[in-house]
Amino acid sequence: MPSQDRVAIVTGAARGLGAATAQELSRQGAKVVISDIDGLLAEGVAAEIRQSGRDALALRVDVSKITELDALVKTTVDHFGRLDILVNNAAICPRIPIDDMTEEKFDQIVDINLKSVFFLSRAAGNAMKAGKWGRIVNVSSVGGRTGGIYASTIYAATKAGVMSMTKAFARHFAPHGITVTCVAPGSVDTRLMSDLSPESLRGTIEGVPLKRLADPLEIARVIAFLASDGSSYMTGAIVDVNGGALMP
Ligand SMILES: NC(=O)c1ccc[n+]([C@@H]2O[C@H](COP(=O)([O-])OP(=O)(O)OC[C@H]3O[C@@H](n4cnc5c(N)ncnc54)[C@H](O)[C@@H]3O)[C@@H](O)[C@H]2O)c1
Repeated sequence: MPSQDRVAIVTGAARGLGAATAQELSRQGAKVVISDIDGLLAEGVAAEIRQSGRDALALRVDVSKITELDALVKTTVDHFGRLDILVNNAAICPRIPIDDMTEEKFDQIVDINLKSVFFLSRAAGNAMKAGKWGRIVNVSSVGGRTGGIYASTIYAATKAGVMSMTKAFARHFAPHGITVTCVAPGSVDTRLMSDLSPESLRGTIEGVPLKRLADPLEIARVIAFLASDGSSYMTGAIVDVNGGALMP
């Protein structure tokens, strides 16, 4: 199918890596659903895309609510007639030392970062079956491999979970022409990094052979490739995009 007919959902697309990914998929011809818990900011991204003459729809969605995930898929298919691409990008990374973690915070991080990936991948993949073609791209993190360095134990555990789920869903949907892959970014210049202390940030950059943070577009371009026809023989793969910070 020509890429201009493809329909994509990106979660957490109101800013940062999600916004860059939505813009990149749109530039490559897809109609994009900009979903985020911040509906106003999401509308801003969609408006920017529409100003360039391309199609986009903003939807306020809290990915930790399963009913909202089902509604996201239904509204997308009702509006655009199909669904071909899902990017599971939304996540939070509160910096909480192990001794200060509460059950409430633990559950919130797991619900947003991991539970959402399971339920949205299932709903979206089932909708993609109609077209016998689909791409699910999960956004994990280098933290999923290291265990999280700066007070991000549960975040890192959810990101390891995302890597594992990528493989299970890859097997599950393979018979339907749907591939499931994952990017594991290193440190990206977004709001998520902004609460690191200057020393931690310096230490992070010091550990990157390329000696800088990633621009969100440098990750978005890899996601867009995984969401394209070009990645047709990749499924269950974890792609590290980290400036050399970790070479597993
Ligand atoms: N920035 C980094 O250094 C880095 C590194 C590795 C991986 N990542 C991953 O990249 C992805 C994007 O992060 P980012 O750096 O752009 O962060 P960000 O904080 O700038 O953006 C996250 C987006 O998710 C949205 N969001 C938060 N909770 C939500 C919810 N319950 N429902 C729907 N949307 C919600 C936010 O409103 C925001 O728009 C995340 O999966 C993150 O784990 C980021």
